[in-house]
Amino acid sequence: MPISTYDDAMRRARELAERGPRTGENPQVGCVLVDDHGTIVAEGWHRGAGTTHAEVDALSKVDSAKGLTAVVTLEPCNHTGRTGPCSKALIDAGIARVVYSLDDPGDESSGGAESLRAAGVDVVSGVLSGEGYQLVERWLTANRLKRPWVTAKWGSSLDGRTAASDGTSQWITSAESRTFVHLLRSQHDTIAIGTGTAIADNPSLTARTADGNLFPNQPLAVVIGDTPLPSGSGLWGHPRGVLQESGALADILERLYNIGIRSLFLEGGPRLMNSFIREGLVDEYVVCLAPMLLGGEHTATGDLGIPTLTAARKLSVTHTEVMGGTLVITAREAH
Ligand SMILES: NC(=O)c1ccc[n+]([C@@H]2O[C@H](COP(=O)([O-])OP(=O)(O)OC[C@H]3O[C@@H](n4cnc5c(N)ncnc54)[C@H](OP(=O)(O)O)[C@@H]3O)[C@@H](O)[C@H]2O)c1
Repeated sequence: MPISTYDDAMRRARELAERGPRTGENPQVGCVLVDDHGTIVAEGWHRGAGTTHAEVDALSKVDSAKGLTAVVTLEPCNHTGRTGPCSKALIDAGIARVVYSLDDPGDESSGGAESLRAAGVDVVSGVLSGEGYQLVERWLTANRLKRPWVTAKWGSSLDGRTAASDGTSQWITSAESRTFVHLLRSQHDTIAIGTGTAIADNPSLTARTADGNLFPNQPLAVVIGDTPLPSGSGLWGHPRGVLQESGALADILERLYNIGIRSLFLEGGPRLMNSFIREGLVDEYVVCLAPMLLGGEHTATGDLGIPTLTAARKLSVTHTEVMGGTLVITAREAH
């Protein structure tokens, strides 16, 4: 049977996966059960750490799964965490075939395909693997590097200035692009800023909709630096809490990873941004460019330690969009 037979079912599984949270320790996973005619008879998805896995969610929606095919965006897990191994649940339910997109790279959770094959289940891997990779790229990267995925964001004039000469900076970018930034905040586990920004701007670091309401998912606020956060800082009232961290950035990221943080939204200021970039700790850039020129010294980044053009940090653009006149560019580091 050609591998493409399952493309439509896999696309649906991916749609279901996207209903789950983008944040937290677990990846987004979707699963559909299909019969011999290729008809989807049950759907499931994972709703976050500690909840039922996508495969078990789909299995719970049929009286009997005997002889069915399970189409899953990620290799079924093989380990007993807070929930049992999905490979065993699929075997026990009498699933005849498992089709998945990507191998699970987890130290403990991988090996599901092997268990399934050993139990006589037909296993097909690599279906729409490019899309499957995109779905869980942050999670894969965080697990591989043992640090959160880092998205760095700044807003600037077309000539790369984040403030005018007198320091005024609110607002350079459009309201529409700022609404988009709030959505991105809600899709990360943490927002990080330096003490300089925390003290100068007294930001709330919450993720809010255009009408000012809080998104259901609020990222943890992280302030990096030794200077104590003033007692009057609005961050003390942050709905998810505020954490102050100092020391080497790589160590801070490792500590955050160890408490379950898998993604970090870095919002500056320029000095902290500079250090993250210099140390190769940024995975994705979201740069909001407003149609104005400011000139002066308030550049988005300072000296990145790049002596000559051939040493430039090369990025690839993954998305561009004009939002209320502000050009929002998303670009990736290649690593
Ligand atoms: N347009 C924008 O997108 C945007 C975004 C953010 C901020 N801003 C503006 O930027 C200004 C503040 O920027 P800033 O550069 O002065 O402050 P910053 O980058 O927010 O904070 C710098 C401070 O972070 C601490 N830090 C800890 N580890 C660091 C490391 N590895 N590298 C660098 N700093 C580290 C240090 O403070 P300690 O001495 O406490 O350790 C350092 O002084 C504000 O005026 C704000 O309005 C603009």
